[in-house]
Parts: sequence; C-alpha cells; structure tokens
Amino acid sequence: MPTSVVIGAQWGDEGKGKIVDILAERAEMVVRFQGGNNAGHTLVIDGEKTVLHHIPSGILRAGTECILASGVVVDPAVCLREIEGLRSRGYLADRTQLTIGTECSVIMPYHRMIDVAREAAVHGTRIGTTGRGIGPCYEDRVGRRSVLVRDLLEPEALRAKVVASLFEKNTILKALGVEPLDADAIVEEYAAFGERLAPYVRESNRRVRDAVRAGRNVLFEGAQGTMLDVGLGTYPFVTSSHTISAALCVGTGVPPNAVDDVIGITKAYCTRVGEGPFPTELDDETGEFLRNAGAEFGSTTGRPRRCGWLDVPALRFAARINGMTSLAVTKLDVMTGMDTIRIATAYSDPVTGDVLDEPPPDSRVLERVVPIWRDFPGWSEDITTVTSFADLPATAQAYLLALEELIEVPIGTVSVGPSRRATFER
Ligand code: GDP
Ligand code: IMO
Ligand code: MG
Repeated sequence: MPTSVVIGAQWGDEGKGKIVDILAERAEMVVRFQGGNNAGHTLVIDGEKTVLHHIPSGILRAGTECILASGVVVDPAVCLREIEGLRSRGYLADRTQLTIGTECSVIMPYHRMIDVAREAAVHGTRIGTTGRGIGPCYEDRVGRRSVLVRDLLEPEALRAKVVASLFEKNTILKALGVEPLDADAIVEEYAAFGERLAPYVRESNRRVRDAVRAGRNVLFEGAQGTMLDVGLGTYPFVTSSHTISAALCVGTGVPPNAVDDVIGITKAYCTRVGEGPFPTELDDETGEFLRNAGAEFGSTTGRPRRCGWLDVPALRFAARINGMTSLAVTKLDVMTGMDTIRIATAYSDPVTGDVLDEPPPDSRVLERVVPIWRDFPGWSEDITTVTSFADLPATAQAYLLALEELIEVPIGTVSVGPSRRATFER
C-alpha cells in the first residue's frame, strides 16, 4: 500500500474513519485533502469512541504523521477543541505529529452565518447542509479572497482581509436578516486562535509530496462521498468540494500517477443526510430498522440519516470515476435478521423508458427513476465476531459476491462492527 486513498463511494458516512484508522497502523502519514468539519469520522477503540471532524483518522496511532493539506477548509475553534480533546486523553503528545497547512482557507464566522441563513431563507433551494460554513468558505477560496491559515499568524494581513470581506459580507448578512459583524472583534478572536494553533501550522503540501516521492506509506483520507462531489454528484444537493480520488491531486499537489491504490468504502446498504435524490430510499419500517440497527444518526449534526437499500448504479459510477482498485464493505452486521435483502442493479426512467446502469447527471431525472431490484435471502446468525470471509453465513457471502460482480471491483475488506477488531481482509 505505498500510496493509497480512501474514498466514500456513496453519500458520506460509509465508515471511512474506521477503515483509515485500521490502515493507519501501516501508514506513516495520513492526509486530509478536501472538505472541512462537515466531516464526522468515528473511531471505536477498546469501546472508546472518538469522533474526528478536522484531524485525520491516523491521529490515534502515535507514529503516524497527520496533515491537513491546502485543499482543506479549517475552522480554528473546532480544530483547537479537537486538538485539546485529544491531548487531554494522551494523544498528540508530540505536537509535530499534526501539521495544519499554511495555505488552507479559514472558515470565518460570516461563512457559518451565511450558510445557516441561506438554509433558513424562503428563496433558493434548501440543501440540508451541516451549517458549518463550508459552501461560503469555498466560495471565497475560488473568489480569491480567503483568509488563509498563515494570515492568522499575521494580524495586519488578517485585519486587511477581514475588513475587505466584511464590506461585502455585512451587506449579504443584512439581506438575509442577520446583524452585521464587527471587524475588530473578529480580528482579535482569530489572531488569538492563530497564536494557539501556531505550533501546528507549517507548509503542508511539500511535506506530503516529499513523503510520496520517498516511497513512504502515505494514506489520503477522503471526506464526504462520491455522490456529494460538487462537480459530479447530485448537484445542487452536494457539498462544495470535490470529493473523488482526483481531488487529492489538487488538494495536495501530488500528481495522479503517484497513487497506487484507490479504496472505495461502502456500507452494505445506503444512507444519505440532507436533501436530494435517493432512489433506493426506504420510507418504511425497513428503513427504520436500518436506522436503529445501524445507529444512523449524523456524527456531525445528530440528524437522523435517511436509509435505503444498496444502490449499485451509484456504486458502479463511484468505482469508475474514482478508479477504484478495491472496495471495503462496512456495516454488514447491521443487516443481520432481515429476511430479504435487496439491491438496485439498475434504474428505469419512467418518462423515457430507458434502463440506466449509472445515475443520470441531472438530479431531476435521478429523482424520478425507479430501481430495478434483485432480492437476496438474508441471514440471522450473529456475524460480529466473524474473522474471515469463509466463516460468514453462505447467504452473506452470496450477497457480497454478487455485489463484487455487479460493480466489477474486488472486495478487499469487510467490516462487521464499529470497533477496530471487527474487520477482516478478504
Ligand atoms: P465516516 O464519516 O465515513 O467516517 O463514517 P461515520 O463515522 O460518520 O459513520 C459510520 C458509523 O458507523 C460510525 O458510527 C461507526 O462507528 C460505525 N461503523 C463503522 N463500521 C461499522 C460496522 O461494520 N458495523 C457497525 N455496526 N457500525 C460500524
Ligand atoms: P463524512 O466525511 C454525510 C452533506 C450534508 C448536505 C451536503 C452539503 O462524515 O462522510 P455541507 O455542510 O457540506 O455544505 O452540506 O453534504 N454532507 C455530508 N453527509 N457525511 C459527510 O461527511 C458530509 N458532509 C457533508 O448533509 O447534504
Ligand atoms: Mg461521517
């Protein structure tokens, strides 16, 4: 596994954090390259749960360097809280274990306020965002007016950018019915964050590139999921960053031919948080069963996740656009006790009569498609202590083998519980 990337193959929350934590045993460096604290990656070790929003999921392995590369957007208050929480539990004792890139964009108070106010506004499309200011922050990045992490260490540079930003942002906030903000208060608060973050702030991308060039074991940790990609997902019901494997190149400066393995993570079923099309959604007691058995409540916002059957067209698309070399299937244990398990193998479009093997690019078409189902018998045995593919019930094996065949990607890892131990290689 010299250079690998872990990518969400669905709509996020596939269990990326858990898989990264396991792979990090061998990784010398774990790198986040996009997204911000909209992510919530859960790790369970010896019964102790850690939810990481900002810091890479390699941080619980003392020898693993963790990097936020330039493609990440950083909320300093959240990052500091996470750092302090980890240090109080004995992790991150060596401050050089974590690098926060100087060139990351900073999520400012006005980004959060605009995000929340837009979602509450009567005009426009409600996306069901996490309310963390991610969209407005990336708008400023592309608009070439971001406050960068390095600006937090230079109060005068910070002041100039905040004053210029507020000139526009206060007008927008007013239009959205929110009180205007005061530059002095923000500069004071964010300069203080800068002082506290300083021990972790370093140039990030060169470190990553040098590690890759030296043949070190580098693991890139994706956030969100393929179907939430701003360019290729279910637009406009997406996040504001690119979430696919290619994003690691622009989010770090590592070239595409440097990546050896692309590991897609999928649940054995499907979930989505927020608005937008979800063809295999179950709005009934079966969906409720999955939500309860899988504890499907958001790690970031606590919102109940929408649940449904596995969506092969979406996974097939994810396999192709990410260049997936293997698949990790998580939460197989959650389906224990179901009499019948369904997979959508394709969709049919009731308007054109077409059969679709991948999600159509237009969300309005995806909204109306009807899944074409294939049914599988379930299993009732407890599988949470199973440690090999051969020891799974025959029906569970058949389900996974069918999935592999439909997607044309080998399943490399199976997860049968939240803890580190409840995982096996194929
Ligand atoms: P991420 O955002 O992709 O890292 O995923 P989240 O952490 O948001 O959501 C995945 C949830 O499922 C977490 O609560 C994990 O602890 C849990 N989880 C991961 N793998 C398994 C599994 O195989 N079985 C069960 N029951 N839970 C799992
Ligand atoms: P992890 O990394 C699941 C969803 C939000 C919303 C849309 C846009 O834990 O898998 P945003 O706040 O990003 O502007 O919201 O994206 N979303 C996620 N859903 N897991 C995530 O991250 C998500 N990050 C954003 O619910 O629908
Ligand atoms: Mg999550």
